[in-house]
Amino acid sequence: SRPKSGNGALTFKPIPPNRLDTFVVPNGYDHSVVIRWGDPVVPGAPAFDVNDQTAAKQSVQFGYNNDFVAILPLHQHNKHALLVVNHEYTNENLMFPGFTTFDAMTLEQIRVAIAAHGMTVIELARVEQTGEWEVATKGKRPYNRRLTALETPFAFTGPAAGSDLLKTAADPKGRTAIGTLNNCAGGVTPWGTVLSGEENFNQYFVGGDGVADEVKPKLARYGISTTARYPSDSRKWDRVDERFDLTRHPNEANRFGWIVEVDPYDLKGGQRKHTALGRFKHEGANVIVAKNGHVVAYMGDDERFDYLYKFVSDKKFIDDNSTVARKHNLTLLESGTLYVAKLDSTSADEIDGSGTLPSDGAFNGTGTWIKLVRGNTSYVPGMTAAEVLTFTRLAGDAVGATKMDRPEDVEPSLLTGKIYVALTNNTNRGVGSNPKADEANPRNANRHGHIVEMVEDRGDNTSETFTWSIPIVCGDPADPSTYFAGYDKSKVSPISCPDNVAFDGAGNLWISTDGNALGSNDGLFATAIEGPERGHLKQFLTVPLGAETCGPFITTDNQSVFVAVQHPGEISGASLEEPASNWPDGDFAKPGVVVTWRLDGGPIGS
Ligand code: FEO
Ligand code: CA
Ligand code: CA
Ligand code: CA
Repeated sequence: SRPKSGNGALTFKPIPPNRLDTFVVPNGYDHSVVIRWGDPVVPGAPAFDVNDQTAAKQSVQFGYNNDFVAILPLHQHNKHALLVVNHEYTNENLMFPGFTTFDAMTLEQIRVAIAAHGMTVIELARVEQTGEWEVATKGKRPYNRRLTALETPFAFTGPAAGSDLLKTAADPKGRTAIGTLNNCAGGVTPWGTVLSGEENFNQYFVGGDGVADEVKPKLARYGISTTARYPSDSRKWDRVDERFDLTRHPNEANRFGWIVEVDPYDLKGGQRKHTALGRFKHEGANVIVAKNGHVVAYMGDDERFDYLYKFVSDKKFIDDNSTVARKHNLTLLESGTLYVAKLDSTSADEIDGSGTLPSDGAFNGTGTWIKLVRGNTSYVPGMTAAEVLTFTRLAGDAVGATKMDRPEDVEPSLLTGKIYVALTNNTNRGVGSNPKADEANPRNANRHGHIVEMVEDRGDNTSETFTWSIPIVCGDPADPSTYFAGYDKSKVSPISCPDNVAFDGAGNLWISTDGNALGSNDGLFATAIEGPERGHLKQFLTVPLGAETCGPFITTDNQSVFVAVQHPGEISGASLEEPASNWPDGDFAKPGVVVTWRLDGGPIGS
């Protein structure tokens, strides 16, 4: 008989930090690679041959640099599921034999790289009686598809759809973008769709030096060079598609940087970009149904000194499985109110940037959600609603939002309604003329990041006020600037650069890392967030050399945890021929999705 889920206590033995070129899980667990770069997605797709790759093949194969991972149910018996994955970006030097420079790439290679971006939907099958899953190989698998920046249309919704800011020569109505780019994290909605954040879209555009002077500040605020035609790391996609040249098509960049919604069950496609959720370097979006039925999406803008946002829908969620209800719920993110966060201190004068706790014993305070825009009404002086939504960073600047240490994943616990924010790091905090530490970002030159917990007033996720505190200040527990909710630091695993967060069925917080500044490999950690074990953070797995840990996703039956191993072998000087990682196949490095399960069939973590 199968062990019961118990009380949700995290009983696994933590794994130590390491620099191994392998995927490490705790004793009593096993793992397998579900899918890797180049594996067939669409039935009939050709086998991967790194020496004979084409854009047509890549468009039906699994893309590069898997990031967000979601598992959605398929049929009733929990034996099949849909895996939805983001493909954030490409490492051309690790993908193309003989790669030297972007200039030397063939046009077909550039098209391959474009097709390796985007998203994948693919059917999985459970391996009998275990938490292991594998790609389904039988049947029609009608949902299997790739979404790419080569050809997949995305319809704009919301107040900025059809505005002049989104119009281009190829789309004079400003209603449909081709493709989605730099899809980072995301979330699963209560109505069974996937949200995906378009993050560092700036890197795909060139020619910012040739736009009208009044457009330049808007490009610059999003990291697009307005002084050089080609930024030093430019992929030069304009060589195959002139829309990436802003000198010729200045509005094309405005068509990226949105939250996209993909309905993996929709065989007609139906993918959309929701302008009501604003445009920035979206890490992701996670939705909760508030007590009053409106849905609330929490979002981070992953840049040093950028902001936290939330969206509250105009309409209410209909909680049933009917076709009518689902059709209604699919419109919830098309209209609502967009807010940006201001976090105030309880101990402002005591924050010296060292990470020393103030005399009241906590980094904490109150906060306000500042209303930016609702429908066609702008609350930002001098900006129209379409401008607030398209240049949301400038709106946040104008209203004095709190500049945070790179807000990545922002996710509400569906058990408590509390919100957890991963702030990855900010080595520029307090450096030069940059903003200094404040109570919500309490360390200058913050290398290791921290976690903020937000509690909406009255437990109402649509509230315009909240309280906040910092349960975890990351780093080596021996470092006095770290904090683990007051837990005995000798029992805590070192953690650096939190990026993605997730929850298991018991409400434990799982945190994955990107860019471990302690020198060990990135990995996945878990801690209780309520009760006496709050802060008892333990390392659950590590990923191979050079990789970051994305996902994570714990299945609703608590039998499996999925993570994406992104950019294995991304180490300076590495190439396809001389890889820094041989994971997962012993030859050159390939990003891939891994599932981990407990050998005795018990719940993950317990
Ligand atoms: Fe793509 Fe913010 O990590
Ligand atoms: Ca305080
Ligand atoms: Ca991320
Ligand atoms: Ca990342």
